[in-house]
Amino acid sequence: MAVDRYGVMGYPVSHSRSPVIHRLFALQTGEEIQYELLQVAPGKLEMAVRQFQRTGGKGLNITVPHKSEVSKLCDHLSERASTAGAVNTLSFLGGEIHGDNTDGFGLLRDLVVNQGLSLEGANILVLGAGGATRGIIGPLLEMEPESLRIANRTLGKAQELVERFALSGPVSACRFNVVPVTETYDLIINATSAGLQGDSPPYPGAAVSDQTVCYDLSYGLKPTPFSIWAREQGAKRSIMGWGMLVEQAAESFRIWRGVRPDTAPVLKQMLITA
Ligand code: ATR
Repeated sequence: MAVDRYGVMGYPVSHSRSPVIHRLFALQTGEEIQYELLQVAPGKLEMAVRQFQRTGGKGLNITVPHKSEVSKLCDHLSERASTAGAVNTLSFLGGEIHGDNTDGFGLLRDLVVNQGLSLEGANILVLGAGGATRGIIGPLLEMEPESLRIANRTLGKAQELVERFALSGPVSACRFNVVPVTETYDLIINATSAGLQGDSPPYPGAAVSDQTVCYDLSYGLKPTPFSIWAREQGAKRSIMGWGMLVEQAAESFRIWRGVRPDTAPVLKQMLITA
């Protein structure tokens, strides 16, 4: 019988570690799968997804810049995908497309389980208001923080997210470069794509104290610009998003295969080979 096919679609996608992670999960759990790297330019997404489905593919991860766009192709959305307005996991079931979002779950698992942080009563600052931010706001608010501020270069986009999540918790918006520092932040999350584009915007230094944990959703072989910046500001800890990457992948794997892989050895392996 043919091996079940999965893959990740994005643009650019050559840097993606998802194929390696899913291969390690498959080895660990004894599941036989094939996982492909699929570079799909904006405007070509629907064609590529439908073709993957038509040729018998079982599931896809969807990454930058397609996470919002792909939700329009889904016949069913999970509650967390619909709250986020962004999808990172597709399952092809009985001719229909099911969309889910495992990003927020992955981030929370890394923060709470792997890093041992408690977010109840915390003051949280999220930098950026794009697709990555939409996926994490709901799960972060479920942890009952004291406040969650979204700072974005384009204020209107942060304000839209505040309207979307206003009923879920104490969320507010501000401009990227004028973050109020009346409160000290326990956690600052970089959810901008600035690092991916090689940019290093003027992150709000005054928001960091020696009690602040800084977390970059981006990750790299070398420290990311944000993680270097966080260390320079004297943050308590500066963490790159390797853990979130592995945890969101594990949740996708569970959705597809019904088996939850053990993430710890895979994360260790990723960091060794990084
Ligand atoms: P993603 O799905 O990765 O979130 P996105 O939807 O394109 O990608 O959003 C990118 C985010 O990074 C946005 O918040 C964007 O700010 P704008 O809304 O003002 O465009 C932010 N971003 C990208 N490059 C940036 C830069 N150089 N400085 C500050 N913010 C930046």
